[in-house]
Amino acid sequence: MQHDFATQDRRGESVGGDQGAQSTTAARRLFCADNLLVLRAMATCSIDLVYMDPPFNTNRRFVGSKGSPAAGAGFDDVFGTRTEDKEDHANLIHMYPEIERFLSLATHWGHKGSGQYLLFMAVRLIEVRRVLRETGALYLHCDSTMAHYLKILLDGIFGVEHLRNEIIWCYTGPQPSRQWYPRKHDNLFYVAKSASHFFDGDAVRIPSQWNALGGFGNPDVPKKNRGKVPEDWWHMTFGPNSKERVGYPTQKPLALLHRIIAASSREGETVLDPFCGSATTLLAAEALGRNWIGIDVSPRIHDILTMRLSQAGYPPSFDYQNMHAGDHAKG
Ligand SMILES: C[S@@+](CC[C@H](N)C(=O)[O-])C[C@H]1O[C@@H](n2cnc3c(N)ncnc32)[C@H](O)[C@@H]1O
Repeated sequence: MQHDFATQDRRGESVGGDQGAQSTTAARRLFCADNLLVLRAMATCSIDLVYMDPPFNTNRRFVGSKGSPAAGAGFDDVFGTRTEDKEDHANLIHMYPEIERFLSLATHWGHKGSGQYLLFMAVRLIEVRRVLRETGALYLHCDSTMAHYLKILLDGIFGVEHLRNEIIWCYTGPQPSRQWYPRKHDNLFYVAKSASHFFDGDAVRIPSQWNALGGFGNPDVPKKNRGKVPEDWWHMTFGPNSKERVGYPTQKPLALLHRIIAASSREGETVLDPFCGSATTLLAAEALGRNWIGIDVSPRIHDILTMRLSQAGYPPSFDYQNMHAGDHAKG
């Protein structure tokens, strides 16, 4: 199935629609669809930043908290029993035989479902690389379940020289664990499309011990007195009672997305989140004046996004396309 669409960003540049189909003036856009369909229909080199927080292959079902705005929402993070991947597999073997060999290895050595999970990720990462501009970058959020395999996959698709950082997001919280240390970090692979990628460390400086003199955040103060560019480990708490939480399982904190978007895109540029869940990325992009495109298979995201935009004081309308229903409407 081929879906065509086009959209314009806040600078009026086209960010989609290789096939020259419908054009809209949307700078804010949500698709309810399998992201592979949308990615395949997007124009090459049209996106400035991709943040993706896919399922982690945990072999679990995640559900929204009862009584919360996300009650009834959820997704299966279960691989290994899908049958719809045969075509993807055949294409991958044809185009990237070495990736296919790597998937066979992961199937033998990895957790249950690893081969199928990595195939799911590989076909999407190939499209993500294609839609990124030369100055663009990807942040791939995962955890220790699949991080070691995903890093190799990224080497194969983006090139080992384009890995900028493996960022560790660490947090605290209860986890009864007597046989190992509590697992309290996620991994984010920050990968550039090319050597000319954009990065603005000044936009995300944080106070450092030696700049307590008061120059933090003041552009008139010399850089060395304006705090430091954060290291590649980020301690950001996101407690169960945080006011931001909407009850969506696996929801990420706005502070994490603010930092990523501020450092790796400019105002008016376009941020894509192909697994947007409770729309954290879209909200952070809105706050920072970026255009945004979100994709999620769950039809519940429309209402969650509307609610979050409205509560944050932003216009709650956006361009919405539900590909399950073949529908195209304003949200
Ligand atoms: C880990 S959650 C994302 C959470 C999000 N970052 C947040 O802050 O709420 C993964 C999301 O991917 C979605 N998803 C899974 N498979 C998908 C697919 N093939 N296409 C689009 N979305 C998908 C799920 O519905 C889920 O909302």
